[in-house]
Amino acid sequence: MGKTVKTIGVLTSGGDAPGMNAAVRAVVRTAIFNGIKVIGIRRGYNGLLNGDMFEMNLRSVSDIIQRGGTILYTARCLEFKEPAGVEKAKNICIESGIDGLVVIGGDGSFRGARDLSNLGIPCVGIPGTIDNDISSTDYTIGYDTAMNTAVEMVDKIRDTAQSHDRCSVVEVMGRHAGHIALNAGIACGATCIIVPELPFDLDEMIMKIKRIQKTGKEHFIVIVAEGVGNVSKIAEEIEAKTGIESRATILGHVQRGGSPTVRDRVIASQMGYHAVSLLKQGIGNRVVGMRGNDIVDYDINEGLAMVKPFDKQLYQIADEISI
Ligand code: ADP
Ligand code: F6P
Repeated sequence: MGKTVKTIGVLTSGGDAPGMNAAVRAVVRTAIFNGIKVIGIRRGYNGLLNGDMFEMNLRSVSDIIQRGGTILYTARCLEFKEPAGVEKAKNICIESGIDGLVVIGGDGSFRGARDLSNLGIPCVGIPGTIDNDISSTDYTIGYDTAMNTAVEMVDKIRDTAQSHDRCSVVEVMGRHAGHIALNAGIACGATCIIVPELPFDLDEMIMKIKRIQKTGKEHFIVIVAEGVGNVSKIAEEIEAKTGIESRATILGHVQRGGSPTVRDRVIASQMGYHAVSLLKQGIGNRVVGMRGNDIVDYDINEGLAMVKPFDKQLYQIADEISI
């Protein structure tokens, strides 16, 4: 256990995610409840290096729990990847009286938090990314909202695919991971789901579509994780080899916005609370996560070294019920 923390900083870093505001709110309120001062840092590690920060009070986080994006803004900061940048950030923390830091972001942001912790500023990471690609947690803030947005969009696409007897090939986000694709795919009744984690055979997919067409199905949805890429090419191949008119859609950043779902708001609140509880005891170099229904924490390096399994069983179910 480290020394007691009197002032903490909070920042959001990397890609934004719905629910980040709920996490910021929980951090600020838990800290103030415990007599800890809170400094909000704007635009991730950039704000730390530029001194772009302000003291937050109970009302600074009013009316934000329902808002997507992040009121603290977010950014990617190259300077912080260099040892000199981390050293500079440490000195700014000391000058500003910040003796603990909550970093809400993804794996990259956690690496930065680890580096700063190693220089003596206790940092705690909270997983915030729509991709759910962080190994030290079953769940990342923003994932549920993004999946729901994806499904809502695909439902709309399905209406027009049905009217035109078309095949719609839809790319969803996820960076290198296929978790959004798998879950959105099963939830919107996709005929095929293509993810980077599993091998994919275009000819097998074409055969499946032709087979299903013979049973009377007239329109099709194919969900592709962005890590696989080239939805236009896939749509062209489907059209050329099946004769079914096909269209490609890239959902894009619509999946990053919008009001967070209940799940995102609740988990963000729990994680924000947990992060401050650690810092309150002077404990840093930890990442908060979720295992089953429990909020847990790990050493950052231990967390970064973990490997996230892909849910092959769910993929199998999706495949078997889309015949
Ligand atoms: P995410 O946190 O969503 O994974 P990034 O990978 O873009 O997003 O990382 C966000 C920020 O975290 C980067 O802009 C940088 O400031 C910091 N960061 C990323 N990787 C490292 C690293 N290896 N060492 C130190 N800081 C890092
Ligand atoms: O990590 C979240 C995410 O939306 C990924 O799904 C996507 O690959 C990436 O960020 C897009 O990042 P940018 O904000 O640079 O467009």
